[in-house]
Amino acid sequence: MADLSFDYYLCAMSKALIEDLSFLTEVSRQPEQEIKVSEEQNSMPGQKKLYMESYGCQMNFADSEIVTSILQKEGFVTTSNSLEADLILLNTCAIRENAEQKIRNRLKQLNHQKAQKPGMLIGVLGCMAERLKAQLLNEERSVDMVVGPDAYRDLPRLVAEAQGGHKGVNVFLSREETYADITPVRLGSNGVSAFISIMRGCDNMCSFCVVPFTRGRERSRDPHSVVAEAKDLFEKGFREVTLLGQNVDSYKWSPETNTKLTIEKSVEASLIVNFAQLLEQVALIDPRLRVRFSTSHPKDITDEVLLTIARYPNICNYIHLPAQSGSSSVLERMNRTYSREWYLHKIKAIREIVGEDAGISTDSIAGFCGETEEEHLETLSLMEEVKYDFAYMFAYSERPGTPAAKKYTDDVPENIKKRRLQEIIQLQKEHSGYRNQLAVGKVHQVLVEGDSKRSDLFLTGRNSENKVVVFPKEGYRKGDYVDVLVEQCTTATLIGKALSHSSFAI
Ligand code: SAH
Ligand code: SF4
Ligand code: F3S
Repeated sequence: MADLSFDYYLCAMSKALIEDLSFLTEVSRQPEQEIKVSEEQNSMPGQKKLYMESYGCQMNFADSEIVTSILQKEGFVTTSNSLEADLILLNTCAIRENAEQKIRNRLKQLNHQKAQKPGMLIGVLGCMAERLKAQLLNEERSVDMVVGPDAYRDLPRLVAEAQGGHKGVNVFLSREETYADITPVRLGSNGVSAFISIMRGCDNMCSFCVVPFTRGRERSRDPHSVVAEAKDLFEKGFREVTLLGQNVDSYKWSPETNTKLTIEKSVEASLIVNFAQLLEQVALIDPRLRVRFSTSHPKDITDEVLLTIARYPNICNYIHLPAQSGSSSVLERMNRTYSREWYLHKIKAIREIVGEDAGISTDSIAGFCGETEEEHLETLSLMEEVKYDFAYMFAYSERPGTPAAKKYTDDVPENIKKRRLQEIIQLQKEHSGYRNQLAVGKVHQVLVEGDSKRSDLFLTGRNSENKVVVFPKEGYRKGDYVDVLVEQCTTATLIGKALSHSSFAI
């Protein structure tokens, strides 16, 4: 009887959870919606306090951990309350217009705070700083420093100058900087999964994209420092690392040079480390350390990478392979350097080598310059063919100075962009539901990340395919690998019950 009522209770809880979790649609997971705020650290009286807000992609978040490390050495402690700060830093994104608008609004609010706290300094870091440079100082009078993504080592000097009343700008873009020797201070970490930047910049010139202008030339980080960082994380109890780059398949490093272009001309092959090899080196640290990576580029991902994923159970069966559009003519205008057929060929290779269950996600842009209704329908039909597990979906937003802004007219009316985006989102919802349904009735290996957001009676984690799995806690804990039988799902979440600890991790 007791068991029955417990089952009944769990069932009712699961039902409540489904309702609660249904807000977790793919749209709410858009990367630029997330804002990370610095944590409260213990401080001694008189210590200088740093408050930082980070916007944009995971790479920006990883940079904020480097910035924190640099400023801690200068005696700063972090605070989660901007009203207490001596120094406020906004690490910004410039990918779409609304990302920059958000920062403009935030600066207006901070301006009021500054008026009440004389001596408080405000710095703008990251991609918007790099894009607008000194112009930001002229337009936003509350700003004291403008610092681009490759200039963070210069922050102590810039802060000291600003304290002396001199506003400063450093937006120098480097060909070498990878911050390889700086140990990031993990911010907002769950203690289980962490991000490691393996490269910086981007050498592609997708015509819509501002990143090559804000992050500079592509360069790869020394693999020894990547492996050492991953090992250190594992020893501290972390169980998952995600290797980050704008185009990880392009990773290439040699003892002489860390840029793909120069390596190809000069260096002996045996000394070169490519992405598949780096992935393998990290996977070999320990079978209990999961390895993920993002972002893969359809033009550069190789079978060697796919075979490496298939060979190591701790490399997750999940690939984020942004298509952007399903139309070859749009892809050409976007300068993505692949066609629809090439892209589908890569999907086929993933399904053959990694498996039918492999998690695949995409980024999609609706309403790029000149996009016709037929071209839009080709994006929908590509989605039908691939059936993505999830997607990040955007309306095209023209960025000043990009090749598209110079060459094409942003001529798809706003209401049509929105309607097309809605159609893409709607179809993706169906596909996420379909793909999640395929996972029901199967046992999944879940790495537990902590309590479910909605109830501390449940745990949440992800399976290898990057799907969120929620299940009743019983005796399991954060950091455990648990075999979970999935019994039901929403379009965003799998819900099941724990069977046992995964045997390999005991
Ligand atoms: N390096 C990754 C993408 C980084 S930017 C890649 O090549 O796929 C993240 C996503 O933002 C892009 O994939 C694209 O879908 C979107 N994006 C970039 N520029 C945009 C723009 N001008 N308007 C709308 N979406 C954009
Ligand atoms: Fe932008 Fe293209 Fe580079 Fe991605 S690969 S960051 S979309 S230029
Ligand atoms: Fe934004 Fe810069 Fe990342 S533009 S998406 S923060 S690389």
